[in-house]
Amino acid sequence: MSNEIDQQQLYSGPDGNSPFRGLGGLLRQNIKNLTPYSSARDEFQGEASVFLDANENAYGSPLVQAYNRYPDPMQYQVKMRLSQIKGVPARNIFLGNGSDEAIDILFRSFCNPGVDNVIIVPPTYGMYEVSANINDVKLKRVLLTEEYQLNLEGIAEAIDANTKLIFICSPNNPTGNSINRDDIETLLANFNGIVVVDEAYINYSRQKTFIQELTEYANLVVLQTLSKAWGLAGLRMGMAFASEEIIEVMNKVKPPYNINEASQTLALQALANIEQVNTWIKETLQQRDNLVLTLKDMAFVLDIYPSDANFILVKTTDANSIYNFLVERGIIVRNRSKVELCEGCLRITIGTPQENDKLIETLQQYNA
Ligand SMILES: Cc1ncc(COP(=O)(O)O)c(C=O)c1O
Repeated sequence: MSNEIDQQQLYSGPDGNSPFRGLGGLLRQNIKNLTPYSSARDEFQGEASVFLDANENAYGSPLVQAYNRYPDPMQYQVKMRLSQIKGVPARNIFLGNGSDEAIDILFRSFCNPGVDNVIIVPPTYGMYEVSANINDVKLKRVLLTEEYQLNLEGIAEAIDANTKLIFICSPNNPTGNSINRDDIETLLANFNGIVVVDEAYINYSRQKTFIQELTEYANLVVLQTLSKAWGLAGLRMGMAFASEEIIEVMNKVKPPYNINEASQTLALQALANIEQVNTWIKETLQQRDNLVLTLKDMAFVLDIYPSDANFILVKTTDANSIYNFLVERGIIVRNRSKVELCEGCLRITIGTPQENDKLIETLQQYNA
């Protein structure tokens, strides 16, 4: 992390016009009162030659690589590298076992089960609803418009005194489009709870990240992940960027060693190789354009929605029959035809050139 970034005062607090008045009224009382688990590594962080404080196996691991020691609970090195890449101080970064863990921790930190509610804007990523259900938190659904944009009036009507979180996914899964920036800013400036902007697909987007807006809005949480453009879905590492105050709460609530040693080591190695990731992003966008051009001339394709992500949403004459035709030939796409506002739609992830060619050849057979 450069000194410049280190000294940057990221958390500026609520501005004079925002109704957001800090976390005081938002946090669950039990979380406010919580004394977090204090691990052996929390209690002693200095240099020593003999560590007999964590009941580890001092002899090693039955592996070439030793994993007998607990990992860094605060993932300092990974955060320092992410800080350089993202231009955000490490203290404004939370790491989760996938961004799905960050989503769950937001529920557990801010939403009283059976009392509070959150707003989602379907069609959108399914885990917000699952996490709400797991945590017994009421969900309010305000459908996107026909253009897959926010219905700001509907959201304003849905907000009540117990609304703690609003989830906005941009670029949105499964529709692929980015949500209008001004609309998200309207929510940030007028909602006295937390606005979560999930940017899992931001590396593929023409829009810029909301991370820069953290200085402006104290009620903003930006989620990103290493599972998509970074090609590390199997390592399970997601990020939340937010004010120091929010990150402190999330760290207090998370399991002490939520990111394992192998994931930390491998993520650090991968984060040194941005060039490879950028090459793949360019290739994916090129492949996405080619796929759109070819698909749009096929008779069963009614519409292809503009995408800022590594997938496209395709409206077809008969999603079920095309889905089954592909499955029988070993090609799996996502059938979204039962999702509100996605009737007839298949969500297709952009593959390698060979995979995309195989998809096109197979769809041409269907067409015939
Ligand atoms: C919008 C969105 N957010 C979050 C996730 C989950 O990411 P992670 O693998 O980091 O848990 C996904 C995965 O598909 C997603 O589409």
